[in-house]
Amino acid sequence: MSTEHDIAVDIRDLQVTFTGGRQPVRAVNGVDLQVRRGEVLALLGESGSGKSVTLRSLLRLHSPKQTLMSGQIRVGGEDVMAMTPRELADHRGRVTSMIFQEPLLALDPVYSVGAQIVESIRRHEPSVTEQQAHQRALELFERVRIPSPERRLAAYPHEMSGGMRQRAMIALALACRPQVLLADEPTTALDATVQIQILLLLRELQRDLGLTVMFVTHDIGAAIEVADRIAVMYAGRLVEEGLTRELIRSPQHPYTRALLASRAHGALARGTRLATIAGNPPDLSALPPGCSFAPRCTLATEACLQRTPDAVRCSDTQVVSCLHSEHALARSESPRLG
Ligand SMILES: Nc1ncnc2c1ncn2[C@@H]1O[C@H](COP(=O)(O)OP(=O)(O)OP(=O)(O)O)[C@@H](O)[C@H]1O
Ligand SMILES: [Mg+2]
Repeated sequence: MSTEHDIAVDIRDLQVTFTGGRQPVRAVNGVDLQVRRGEVLALLGESGSGKSVTLRSLLRLHSPKQTLMSGQIRVGGEDVMAMTPRELADHRGRVTSMIFQEPLLALDPVYSVGAQIVESIRRHEPSVTEQQAHQRALELFERVRIPSPERRLAAYPHEMSGGMRQRAMIALALACRPQVLLADEPTTALDATVQIQILLLLRELQRDLGLTVMFVTHDIGAAIEVADRIAVMYAGRLVEEGLTRELIRSPQHPYTRALLASRAHGALARGTRLATIAGNPPDLSALPPGCSFAPRCTLATEACLQRTPDAVRCSDTQVVSCLHSEHALARSESPRLG
């Protein structure tokens, strides 16, 4: 049983609605998710399922004017939802860091990467000298396996190759020794061999630094190779979560099964729907009642269209939200007659 101390990320009933457009968009609809310290968790799901919105919520990166957020988010024991802007600025990078798909957007083009790391360290830790910060930057470049690190610290982002820039961004994200690293499709812009190297680097960083990692990918094969646990999202809800080996051996949700089956068709392309199931995800500004997946589900019955399924536990580590699993579990738990 995990204690509160073991939990690095604790999300309870997270709801995120964007109010900037004509209709409110309910991007995240009651997500509950706990990630243990030192765990590597992959978030999977079709385009638009709310993976990025969930990750960005952990740093409260949504524009406060056009976003309604509710629920609880605790990271490293700190209450992210209650933070003032100043507290948030201190929290970001120190407790949670995020790496993005496009490092050129995260890195400042007019400073060398080394200077950016030094600046970040000294902003969070004013007592660290310039020289000490430079030494830490050098160690970070070594840690993310950038060759000739001393020379490359002086390079500008545009002078690096795509894979190298990704490593430099990871080094910058680690500058203030965060506990949690969030990675939103850290590899999509790169070719396949670099992708797996970067994901394996995240795995290695978890091992060496005890980091907790949450990452989003469309490459289900890579997620299976790298993640301890997988959480599957559909239309802003978690439909299933479990240990990777458990989920591939016995996926319970029809959507998880379809997602895993799509692996045979190569990586799930960004911006496309799942080839293995007909239909499209629902419109998030007009969500139907009941299970959001029901209109596309071959198992759906009338009840699925009426009632949103509760999350039910199928093992210590696997949880699924599907009426059919609820019924199946209830049957297996009820005493046998006769
Ligand atoms: N700032 C915003 N304003 C309005 N709607 C938004 C905003 N950001 C995201 N959305 C909507 O919220 C939903 C979830 O978006 P999100 O970016 O989390 O999807 P995703 O699962 O990361 O998809 P992808 O795999 O394509 O990156 C989408 O319908 C998206 O259009
Ligand atoms: Mg996304």
